[in-house]
Amino acid sequence: MALCYSTKLVILLLGGSLLLGYGVIELQASHHVQNATTLDQSLISADQPYRTAYHFQPVQNWMNDPCGPVIYKGIYHLFYQYNPIGNGSPDGPRVWGHSTSFDMVNWSPQPLILEPQMVSNMNGSYSGSITIIQGYIPAILFTGITPQNEQVQDLAFPKDISDPYLKEWVLVPENPVMSPTLENNINASSFRDPTTAWRLSDGNWRVLIGSKIDRLGLALLFRSMDFINWVQADEPLYSYDQTGMWECPDFFPVYINGFPIGVDTSAIGPTVKHVLKVSLDDTKRDIYAIGTYDTTKDAYIPDAGFLNDSSLRYDYGKYYASKTFYDNLKMQRILLSWINESSTVEDDIKKGWSGIHAIPRRVWLDKSRKQLIQWPIAEIERLRVNPVILPTQVIKGGSTIEIPRITAAQADVEISFRVRDMPIIERFDASWTNPQLLCSQKGPTVSGGLGPFGLLTLASTGLEEYTAVFFRIFKAYDTNKFIVLMCSDQSRSSLNPTPDKTTYGTFVNVDPIREGLSLRVLIDHSIVESFANKGKNVITARVYPTLAIYDKTRLYAFNYGVNNVDITWLTAWSMRKANIA
Ligand SMILES: *[C@@H]1O[C@H](CO)[C@@H](O)[C@H](O)[C@H]1NC(C)=O
Ligand SMILES: *[C@@H]1O[C@H](CO)[C@@H](O)[C@H](O)[C@H]1NC(C)=O
Ligand SMILES: *[C@@H]1O[C@H](CO)[C@@H](O)[C@H](O)[C@H]1NC(C)=O
Ligand SMILES: *[C@@H]1O[C@H](CO)[C@@H](O)[C@H](O)[C@H]1NC(C)=O
Repeated sequence: MALCYSTKLVILLLGGSLLLGYGVIELQASHHVQNATTLDQSLISADQPYRTAYHFQPVQNWMNDPCGPVIYKGIYHLFYQYNPIGNGSPDGPRVWGHSTSFDMVNWSPQPLILEPQMVSNMNGSYSGSITIIQGYIPAILFTGITPQNEQVQDLAFPKDISDPYLKEWVLVPENPVMSPTLENNINASSFRDPTTAWRLSDGNWRVLIGSKIDRLGLALLFRSMDFINWVQADEPLYSYDQTGMWECPDFFPVYINGFPIGVDTSAIGPTVKHVLKVSLDDTKRDIYAIGTYDTTKDAYIPDAGFLNDSSLRYDYGKYYASKTFYDNLKMQRILLSWINESSTVEDDIKKGWSGIHAIPRRVWLDKSRKQLIQWPIAEIERLRVNPVILPTQVIKGGSTIEIPRITAAQADVEISFRVRDMPIIERFDASWTNPQLLCSQKGPTVSGGLGPFGLLTLASTGLEEYTAVFFRIFKAYDTNKFIVLMCSDQSRSSLNPTPDKTTYGTFVNVDPIREGLSLRVLIDHSIVESFANKGKNVITARVYPTLAIYDKTRLYAFNYGVNNVDITWLTAWSMRKANIA
């Protein structure tokens, strides 16, 4: 019989160094609320220009992966990887932070969960997912770290399933329910991040665990009838060589009809295709494929080559360790993600925090069936106030237009462009296969025929600082086809030299002459989330302006190309603050 115990974290600040001690066994779950940890607040800067107004983030400390998102009794639950010590530093074992919401915009913090309780999570509780079993019982599968530093999978249930806030969770005495062994050739340091489980008609639950053998990335498959006894399948659901460790796998069906509605994780049949997403530890990219789930072989068959340099990404900027869940209340599949900082750990410790989450995105399959479409949840629009609508107008080559009367550090902007086929359009060179590189070579100030045009966000009045989000159009004269490049350029985002200012870019699969080009940008102090052409391509950037902060921030439309472009729609909203913790 295993004891069900929880251990208290005791943090002592002695001579400036943090001492971590594990106290005695307590019989009931403990109730640490996230700001109850004793930290020296004098180390934290009072001036906080980079905290977000409507992107999720805890009050302080380090946050990374979203975990176990679920809707339960009408309440949205978000759990997240949390390091309760060390201000913004990642160093220290993880527990799960927890917040609840009725709209996924305004959140209320709940007590931390999954603190060290038994050997199988004594050195930390890492990423995982929630599955609703027997139709009404939420079950957490997560990665625990043992004192020997082994990664194992643990199971936890709510202490009281009648509590819609799911405040307390209990680990089962059978933990760990999945372990690395010599027989199954799993390396104990590469075995983590269970998915939400799904169930087929044979009655077995299935779950994926991220892993690798040498350079072979693996989505290991485990099966169970009772959710406690798990048996590894002979073959992984899918694997791919030379890709390194696969973190945070996610596997879910999408309707093939192109409607923007979601479907339960266990759905199969001719009306759905399946998405497999993995987070590549080596390159910090979340890549996905659209494909077929062969349920007789329990194997995944991607429609197109997976994985290679041109694999689809949810987001071509900063976006990692993402996870979806099915919201059966609104019949939508919601995608959540950690957005890392681009600042140094020293700067993060000074801020006292690190890590935010992207605005939850609704995801569905595009009509082409070749990619997903992503769009911010509708609820975020309730924060919009004081719309500024600019009339349809020409934006001349080499000019900017300021968007007035807006809180430019905290805004939601929609802009659409019409472009014409012109004699002077830059020739596309077939060797330009890397859009990110192309964006860094042809930045916002490099004039082209059609473009660059777009928005200068988080801009200072003298344009000493700005983050440019823009399009540039090329023509492949041999095929007479247009190639549209979308860029997010951070190189001028801050006068502070220390943050990472990598430029991001992607090609947008669109006919710009026939369909036009559109951009929606969510700006929130230190994040710029940009959606091109109604969610076909997304780029997220983290930036740290020094001049363009608070009400000193400006927003401009710009066109630094040779040719004029029409702005057919421009509406910008100031955004209200939400309860983000
Ligand atoms: C695991 O936790 C123990 C305390 O329970 C600690 O002494 C040890 O350093 C930790 N090991 C690792 C590898 O972090
Ligand atoms: C297990 O993985 C770790 C980290 O990738 C590596 O250092 C170690 O050599 C591996 N061990 C074995 C037995 O392959
Ligand atoms: C790479 O993958 C893409 C789709 O993900 C596919 O179209 C292309 O053929 C693949 N290329 C190779 C060399 O496998
Ligand atoms: C997060 O950011 C830090 C600092 O820029 C970087 O060292 C680290 O690799 C990043 N991790 C991910 C997952 O993006």
